[in-house]
Amino acid sequence: MSHDVILEAVDVVKHFGDGGNWLSPKPPVQAVDGVSLKIRRGETFAIVGESGCGKSTLARLLMRLLEPTAGNVLFDGAEISHAKGAKLKRLRRDMQFIFQDPFSSLNPRMSVGKLVGEPLEVHAPDMNADDRRAKVAELLRKVGLRPEHAGRYPHEFSGGQRQRIGIARALASGPKLIIGDEPVSALDVSVQAQVINLLGDLRRDLGLTLVVIAHDLSVIRHMSDRVAVMYLGRIVEIGTAQQVFATPRHPYTQALLSAIPSMEGTSRDKKPAVQGEMPSPSDPPSGCRFHTRCPHVQPLCKSQSPKLHGQGHQVACHFWQDIAMPPTESAPPNRSDRAEARFALYRAATTGGTVIHQDKKATTERT
Ligand SMILES: Nc1ncnc2c1ncn2[C@@H]1O[C@H](COP(=O)(O)OP(=O)(O)O)[C@@H](O)[C@H]1O
Ligand SMILES: [Mg+2]
Repeated sequence: MSHDVILEAVDVVKHFGDGGNWLSPKPPVQAVDGVSLKIRRGETFAIVGESGCGKSTLARLLMRLLEPTAGNVLFDGAEISHAKGAKLKRLRRDMQFIFQDPFSSLNPRMSVGKLVGEPLEVHAPDMNADDRRAKVAELLRKVGLRPEHAGRYPHEFSGGQRQRIGIARALASGPKLIIGDEPVSALDVSVQAQVINLLGDLRRDLGLTLVVIAHDLSVIRHMSDRVAVMYLGRIVEIGTAQQVFATPRHPYTQALLSAIPSMEGTSRDKKPAVQGEMPSPSDPPSGCRFHTRCPHVQPLCKSQSPKLHGQGHQVACHFWQDIAMPPTESAPPNRSDRAEARFALYRAATTGGTVIHQDKKATTERT
């Protein structure tokens, strides 16, 4: 994998809302507030964090589906955050989106052939009907469907198959980069792995760059090269999947990892990943935005916002060096064994086994 940068965000900010009016003033929602990151060509880059932390907004900014309030987005070295016209059309070909919900993201009145062929009509208008049909058949095969599925309609397919149709549609324009916003979280657990494997195979075979947003850290762990952890509109930690999972440095990442079975709450389990409420993004805490929920909070954290420190494995915490190990006396010395144990718990939980969550932060017994 070469290390050149395909997509870069520089201090990107997106605030929603115009402040209301004098009768009912409303502070803007600081959905994304100063995010910088570099995505390398050919890698799988994951963005994780609790619901409402700004993941989808960031994804839309990266794809130029939204314009930033401030900051820049560069694709292949060129500024795109205000792209229009022919430049925007080229971007739509080069960057594609896979949506979370395969049930609502596909037009039910369009056949599969039409759904997958439509981007070809836009981006390859000179292609004749026969060539287009052949191309659609090839795309369907690539995603594990059959060419004869082209004549059917989305409602005739399962969730996993619909997501395959969505992926075939995303591939049709021949993109360099695909962003999946929670691409498997609407699917049954048994189907999730198949779709994840498909995305991994396509990335390798087609030389794509993949950006995957997920709240399920176990999904991210097995498919991503690098991971960014978001909290209230900012990146708090970034590193290789190995670094972030085996030696998490930010207290927020540590809390997320300790609560893998319940992050964002599945229908089976609504226990929050982190103690306390997430503050409103229209009135975020001063200093470090995590300080209101952080077990290691110090006076400095309330007044000064930490920058991302370090090279490669970066963390935005004033005191990460003091808290690098989990704050429990009983913690085994090898962090990754501990992480392993959590994944075992997660697997047991998702396969319906009875699990007693042994982490110190968990106060309830889960079944
Ligand atoms: N179009 C919008 N208008 C106003 N607020 C929005 C809009 N889109 C998202 N938000 C708010 O921005 C915050 C981040 O949302 P989002 O990016 O969807 O987070 P995530 O994908 O991590 O759940 C949330 O508080 C959400 O309510
Ligand atoms: Mg989202």
